[in-house]
Amino acid sequence: MLDVRQVNTYYGDSHVLHDLSLRVTGGEVVAVLGRNGVGKSTLIRSIVGFNPPRSGEVLLDGQRISGLAPYEIVRRGVALVPQGRRMFASLTVRETLGIGRLASRFDDEHRGWDLDRVFTAFPRLRERLNTRTGRLSGGEQQMVAVSRALLGYPKLLLLDEPSEGLSPMVVDQLEGIFTELKTHGVTMLLVEQQVAFALRLADRVLVMSKGRFVYEGTPADVLADAGVRERYLGL
Ligand SMILES: Nc1ncnc2c1ncn2[C@@H]1O[C@H](COP(=O)(O)OP(=O)(O)OP(=O)(O)O)[C@@H](O)[C@H]1O
Ligand SMILES: [Mg+2]
Repeated sequence: MLDVRQVNTYYGDSHVLHDLSLRVTGGEVVAVLGRNGVGKSTLIRSIVGFNPPRSGEVLLDGQRISGLAPYEIVRRGVALVPQGRRMFASLTVRETLGIGRLASRFDDEHRGWDLDRVFTAFPRLRERLNTRTGRLSGGEQQMVAVSRALLGYPKLLLLDEPSEGLSPMVVDQLEGIFTELKTHGVTMLLVEQQVAFALRLADRVLVMSKGRFVYEGTPADVLADAGVRERYLGL
């Protein structure tokens, strides 16, 4: 489904991603792990078009998406749950979810995720519909960010450190939701620093260091490899 081919991404003169290649098959959950500042968010931003690669290409279902504007990439079925959640603090939950629905690939707005399904997953959001997102807790904001992404009924969900800054209880709840999405065949690319959380969800793991992938394996491989955990994950 997703095919990242030899991507090089820069900020000005600073070369961050080096010939990075990655494939995600439909229904697969792939985790990208790595320490602070190795380029995980830059990879996500390269896929969704915020920082288009200077060379290389990104394909979605065989069609080139690199070079398109972010809104066009979203229209093709890529949804982003950004690092830090990035809410418009002055919008209510209802308004924010409305933005998610605008990004839907389908004219038939009842296909896929609708508000009822969001409330089944996150009952708390029903009570918070008219609250401005700036007044929500971190956990509630993350529920809104995930729901906003799902309401576009994406083919591919990009998750940039969804567990960051959340209490263990909320992380457990999110894990339950992502596990359920996985059983429904939602394809996910998950960037994480919380290694244990990512290993429980992922089918396959890539470890990044200085803008390159240095390791690929199953979660069981990572758990068994003390060298990789120490050198690249700081465990
Ligand atoms: N807007 C920017 N301008 C210049 N350099 C940037 C910019 N954003 C990130 N960088 C640099 O690019 C490198 C990769 O950053 P990136 O945010 O992709 O890392 P990360 O793996 O997501 O880190 P973290 O775990 O802290 O989220 C870092 O050296 C960072 O300082
Ligand atoms: Mg990041």
